[in-house]
Amino acid sequence: MAPDRATARHQPPPLSNTEAVAHHKREAAQAAAMMVDDGMRVGLGTGSTVAYLLPALAERNLRGLRCVATSPATEQAAQALGLTVAALDALGELDIAIDGADQIEERGWLVKGGGAAQTREKIVAAASRRFVVIASAEKAVSALHPPVPLEVLRFGAMRTLAEVGEARLRGDLESPDGNLIADYFGPIGDPADLAARLSATPGVVEHGLFAPDMVSCILIAGEHGVERRAGEKPDPPGTGACG
Ligand code: 5RP
Repeated sequence: MAPDRATARHQPPPLSNTEAVAHHKREAAQAAAMMVDDGMRVGLGTGSTVAYLLPALAERNLRGLRCVATSPATEQAAQALGLTVAALDALGELDIAIDGADQIEERGWLVKGGGAAQTREKIVAAASRRFVVIASAEKAVSALHPPVPLEVLRFGAMRTLAEVGEARLRGDLESPDGNLIADYFGPIGDPADLAARLSATPGVVEHGLFAPDMVSCILIAGEHGVERRAGEKPDPPGTGACG
C-alpha cells in the first residue's frame, strides 16, 4: 500500500550508503564509549570509526580518564576534545583499548593498518586488559582477503618486501614512528601461518593481522543495531561481559 501523503512528507529521505556506514560507525563507537568508566586508562585507536569514539568519550565527562593515542591524528583530536593523553610507558597496563578494523573474520581474526598505525595499535591492544573492536557491518567478512598492511624498516626495505613476496610500498607513506608502510597482496590461507611468516621476516616491524586471542569484544553496527561478538581474550573479573 502506498504511504499517504502526510506520512510520506514527514519521513526522512533514506540514507545513502556512505551516510549509513558513517551512522553505523558512530553507533558502534557510542556503544564502546559506554564500556569506559571513571579513572580508566584507555587506549585509543586510529581511523574514522575512532573519530566518532573520541567525542562520545569526551561527552561522558568521566573523572580521571587517561588515554594513550596510537597516532598523532588521534592524539590531536583527543586533546582538542579535552581528553588527557599520556605516554603508554607512563601508564603501563591499560584497562581498555578501543579501535577500528579493516576486516573482521568470523573466527575473530582482524586485518588492521588501513591507517598505517597497526604497530602502535597492536602494542596498545596487547597492553590492555580488554581490547574492543568497533566497526560498521561492511567490515565483517567470511574470509580475510589481501591487502595485509605491513610496517617495514627503511633499511633494506625493498629486500624485505622481496623476502615477503607479493608486497609493495604504499607510496611514501610513513608510520607514526617513521618506518615505511607496505601491503602484502599474496594469498592469505591460514592467517596464523601467514602471521607467523610475516613476523619471522627480518625487516618487518609489524603486520596488520590480529589474532582472535587479542580481542575481547567486537561491536559491529548495521541496519539491525549493534551486534556484540565476544572475542577469545577473557574479560577481566568485575567488568560487564561483551554480550
Ligand atoms: C588504522 C586502522 C583502522 O582501525 C582501520 O583502518 C579502520 O579504519 P576506519 O575506522 O577508518 O574504517 O587499523 O591503522
